[in-house]
Amino acid sequence: MKCLSTRYSAFCLAGLLALSPAFSRAQTALADHELYRPGFHFSPKEKWMNDPNGLVRFDGVYHLFFQYYPGDIVWGPMHWGHATSRDLVHWQQQAIALYPDSLGYIFSGSAVVDSTNSSGLGARGKIPLVAVFTHHNPEGEKRHDNNYQNQSLAYSLDKGATWTKYAGNPVLKNPGITDFRDPSVSWYAKGRKWVMALATKDRITFYSSTDLRNWTKESEFGAGLGSHGGVWECPNLFPLVRMEHEHEKVYWVLLVSNNPGGPNSGSGTQYFIGQWDGHVFKPMDNEVRWIDYGPDDYAGVTWNNTGRRRVFIGWMSNWDYANTLPTATWRNAMTVPRNLFLEQSGSKLYVASRPSPEVYTLAKRKVELRRLMVDSTSNLTNLLGLQKDTAGRYILEVHGPADESVDFVFSNAAGEKLVFGYNPIKQEYWLDRSASGRTDFHSGFGGVYTAPRVSDAGDVDLEFVMDRSSLEVFADNGMTVMTSVFFSQQPLTKVR
Ligand code: FRU
Repeated sequence: MKCLSTRYSAFCLAGLLALSPAFSRAQTALADHELYRPGFHFSPKEKWMNDPNGLVRFDGVYHLFFQYYPGDIVWGPMHWGHATSRDLVHWQQQAIALYPDSLGYIFSGSAVVDSTNSSGLGARGKIPLVAVFTHHNPEGEKRHDNNYQNQSLAYSLDKGATWTKYAGNPVLKNPGITDFRDPSVSWYAKGRKWVMALATKDRITFYSSTDLRNWTKESEFGAGLGSHGGVWECPNLFPLVRMEHEHEKVYWVLLVSNNPGGPNSGSGTQYFIGQWDGHVFKPMDNEVRWIDYGPDDYAGVTWNNTGRRRVFIGWMSNWDYANTLPTATWRNAMTVPRNLFLEQSGSKLYVASRPSPEVYTLAKRKVELRRLMVDSTSNLTNLLGLQKDTAGRYILEVHGPADESVDFVFSNAAGEKLVFGYNPIKQEYWLDRSASGRTDFHSGFGGVYTAPRVSDAGDVDLEFVMDRSSLEVFADNGMTVMTSVFFSQQPLTKVR
């Protein structure tokens, strides 16, 4: 779909997908409380949601568990909510999977398919799905104990429909570290063992196990490395394969969320690329890299059990203001599912993200314009038929020369606007949501955010994923990503 840009065309549009909402309820998005409801991003039917948890694919079904508080639209005693999908874009919310108990709230964690029943939790030949999560004891926290976060197990023998907590919880006890949470567990085939990456204050501690119940410490990573603007949370370790000199080379990626200390203040997720030998993680350099430079992508992790494909999803919010967003009956959505892969620029490697192919299957209509000459007065709204039937949900792909500046203004009849720009002198992208609609609920919300362009290609390519109240921008084949939510009174169906 690449289109050729002539030297003097400022930018040319390569395509547009008008997306139909994945949820039928979005079609009746008139009620006040539904005003900002996304159409194809997962959001809870009601109440509070934060981090994605327990991402696992089993028997053709993608499971998305999430930090959930069914009692209010602000953070509270954490449960694991649950949603399932066969295609990553049509989600069905299920019954709550895990409730708080005498050991505490159910904080973030992961889930695995224990196909050999290594844990012994399977029964009658049924493969157990095993969730590994943090038990957070609020009483211990109040007493200022230093061991109120511990790792525990729960299992399901009916493909995730119902869950039983393991009787021997916790399985990994806190040695006296206040922040000791968010276990990310996966099977390390080469070493024939389970590996856990755990956020332990200012570093990641790796553990291993052969049965998911007994864990041995392997090593620590990250003290003094990377970004330390805030506490480290929600790690995720996984391999990505890349062709080099006609051979496949395996790299290991470690995602680490930081709060605060994100690239544009508040919450953000950095990553390291390196090697993992089953015991130790060695990064290939000291550069700080962020999976997303926008303000609203946090605690993102990837699905287990998807073969070679790596699918990421993040919480599309920021702890700076997540509790105060102007939705009335539900709060916070997830990003689109994104395929992760390695991309090279100069001598450096980056983890790039693009919307998972399933997202494009929602397209109702596709428009493609080639060699389009535009100037500062160009109105793409009519050219693309944007207002016709998109209701503010569309994907716009653009290719243009890397040496000219360009601004995209997404707006509506009420004059609300979100502006994304490229500055070739600074080699920088920027996003301005100061006039995008409601910003009064948090003083820092109406900001301008920037991201470095790391690609050295002669063309810039941009993909905008718009879903009523969120914009995700994938630049340079996903090497630089910016995600932002906004709260306009009407959809942004005009583009200049
Ligand atoms: C990240 C986080 C996790 C924790 C969870 C609690 O957003 O703070 O570290 O497990 O949220 O809801």
